[in-house]
Amino acid sequence: MTDPVTAGLDPLDPLDPLGRWRRLADGAVLLDGFHALKHAVRFGAEVPVAVAVDRRAALALAGELAPDVRAALDGLLTEVTEATYASLVPRPHPTAVAALAVRPSREAHLDRLRQASRTTPVVVLDNPRNLGNAGAVIRLAAGFGATGVVTTGTLDPWHPTVVRGGAGLHFATAVERLTVDELPAGPVFALDPEGDDIRGVELPDDALLAFGSERSGLSPELRARAGRLLALPMRPQVSSYNLATSVAMTLYHWSAAGGASHYLQGSPR
Ligand SMILES: C[S@@+](CC[C@H](N)C(=O)[O-])C[C@H]1O[C@@H](n2cnc3c(N)ncnc32)[C@H](O)[C@@H]1O
Repeated sequence: MTDPVTAGLDPLDPLDPLGRWRRLADGAVLLDGFHALKHAVRFGAEVPVAVAVDRRAALALAGELAPDVRAALDGLLTEVTEATYASLVPRPHPTAVAALAVRPSREAHLDRLRQASRTTPVVVLDNPRNLGNAGAVIRLAAGFGATGVVTTGTLDPWHPTVVRGGAGLHFATAVERLTVDELPAGPVFALDPEGDDIRGVELPDDALLAFGSERSGLSPELRARAGRLLALPMRPQVSSYNLATSVAMTLYHWSAAGGASHYLQGSPR
């Protein structure tokens, strides 16, 4: 039986998008859906191949929701059949758009995370376990203009499910996995229900805001590195908040005191 993906294609032809997809898929970042592609392009990702089942509909969506990237998408998107599209992605997305992006270099991220004059916090997730939570946190970090998101432990913050949860916003912040010993310099504020009430504390722009694992909270290594433990307001009978909502409240608390107010304005789609 003919494979609809490879039928009539020369895998060495650089103008053949499916051949390119197959050559690049290993090690590339899968952008699953229109919004992930839109965000990745908007934040400067290198996208060597992008496909859509209905190219015209995807460009119309761009015209409506993201006119700033419509021309770029026009140059990138190749129309493919539904069967071909389904063979490229683990789960079809309602927009039937997918692309591969080049993963940014670890060195470039480390430079950004370790710069001496950071003007926005770094979010540290200490051994997170839930891929959806990690994606949601990266989306939050991007929204608040955080310098980056660092994870410790075994979870890969560039796992396709995390990228899907992050809606392509990995490219808007520096996302890396490090050990506690490798964390950037700066004051560490670790979030823990047993800490001091965060409402009386102003978080500095160069803070490292650390959050514990969904299962076991903060590790002893991270606690040892923390300058201060802070608690989010919570009534006594409740044990804890979800990890991503804790990050949301903390970043909001930082921003409400004026952090990055020069660019936390409006709400582009
Ligand atoms: C789901 S909670 C962890 C619950 C875990 N069973 C434990 O023993 O801590 C994940 C993380 O969210 C943050 N968090 C949740 N509720 C919080 C609160 N009320 N104050 C401060 N941080 C909180 C902490 O960083 C916590 O480690």
